[in-house]
Amino acid sequence: MLSIYKTDTATVYPCTKLSGTLVVPGDKSVSHRVGILASISSGISRVNGFLNSADCIGLLKAMEALGARTHRSREGDLYIHGTGGRLIEPAGPLDLGNSGTAMRLLAGLLAGVPGAFTLTGDASLQARPMRRIEEPLRKMGARIQLSGDRGCAPMLIKGGGLQAIDYELPVASAQVKSCIMLAALFAEGTTTIIEPAPTRDHTERIFEALQLPMTIDGASIAIEGFGSSGPSLQARTWDVPGDISSAAFWLVAAAVMKGSVTLQRVGLNPRRTAVLDVLKRMGAKVKVTPAKTANSGAEPVGEIRVSAARLRGTVIEGAEIPNLIDEIPILAVAGALAEGETVIKDAHELRVKESDRIQTMCENLKRMGVEVDEMDDGMRIGGPANLRTGGAVSSYGDHRVAMSMAILGLFSDAPLTIKGVDCIETSYPGFWNHLRELGGHVE
Ligand code: S3P
Repeated sequence: MLSIYKTDTATVYPCTKLSGTLVVPGDKSVSHRVGILASISSGISRVNGFLNSADCIGLLKAMEALGARTHRSREGDLYIHGTGGRLIEPAGPLDLGNSGTAMRLLAGLLAGVPGAFTLTGDASLQARPMRRIEEPLRKMGARIQLSGDRGCAPMLIKGGGLQAIDYELPVASAQVKSCIMLAALFAEGTTTIIEPAPTRDHTERIFEALQLPMTIDGASIAIEGFGSSGPSLQARTWDVPGDISSAAFWLVAAAVMKGSVTLQRVGLNPRRTAVLDVLKRMGAKVKVTPAKTANSGAEPVGEIRVSAARLRGTVIEGAEIPNLIDEIPILAVAGALAEGETVIKDAHELRVKESDRIQTMCENLKRMGVEVDEMDDGMRIGGPANLRTGGAVSSYGDHRVAMSMAILGLFSDAPLTIKGVDCIETSYPGFWNHLRELGGHVE
């Protein structure tokens, strides 16, 4: 009998040169938002560059359970047949896998829709804090029950009948902001949200593209609600840019390794590009060429070219943190490869991501022989590391930890085994092929 073994383990081999041109997969945050808004529009939206990863496929499955339909053309473009805002009660719980974005954004949408909905996910998602969305949604009048441990999913929502609120976010979180923005569309009155620090603004850009009634004034966003019938949105074409968070793995690798890497069609939303500022500050040779023509997704895109340089340590802190929150694991790797000390602080939020990224990255870096001190809100890394070779590390089920360690493995002088790499599928299908295309070797 033929059987196929899937090991969930990868061995990365040392590498001396990386070069080539890549188009990284679509932005995960933009794909989630477009998937949701196209599903409540009338008509068929075409989505170019939608991220075909486990998280986003899970989101589409949930939207289908709520009444939308999707299909792909032979060329791979995604078409979403919207519900015109008439969502149906699904037969069972909506399983959102590993995706915190899907859970928090959908909770906001469904809080406004009459019916009962249960949102759940994998063990990691069921350990992530949901009170941060429960509180504002309850204030708006939603009936929400968190039946997991200590304020976690599964989450039961009985939606409908929302009232506008004025809400100051206690954490700088684009997921919480976007959750309230979606709920606000279904509320009576004008909801005002105030952010403690700027976070990614993909939802605002999409609302603007859809001409939804929204006023942004500094840190405050005001949205006029449509009441329980919700807005009337028309289908359209969306372009999803490449994900700078996925590009970041190659940016760091190519910033140190001989050769040069060009990444095309990458999203250059200024609320997502702090990773480029940090790498430049560390001495990286980075050239950004913004595209001249705007795409139809309301997001700036362009090309990024990186070539080898000597990096030096830096401090990453304060308002910069929300704009590179998902790049911190790979920036910790950059810190390990740089000359001198790199300090990451004000990053408590890392403790409640797909894993506790402060703990899991410190653990893995130490295992590789990197001098690293774990702090409550970040870490201190002494570079350049004398990498201990021939070892094994774990992803702890976290896609960005897995990919960050794969990049560090390239700089080792013996193969590095990473356990638990299937999770990379949640955000970057094709990661290993891209590594091979640039000249890396992995088994
Ligand atoms: C996301 C926002 C960030 C980020 C996550 C995606 C989004 O989370 O870490 O991967 O799509 O809004 P927070 O906003 O909770 O920090």
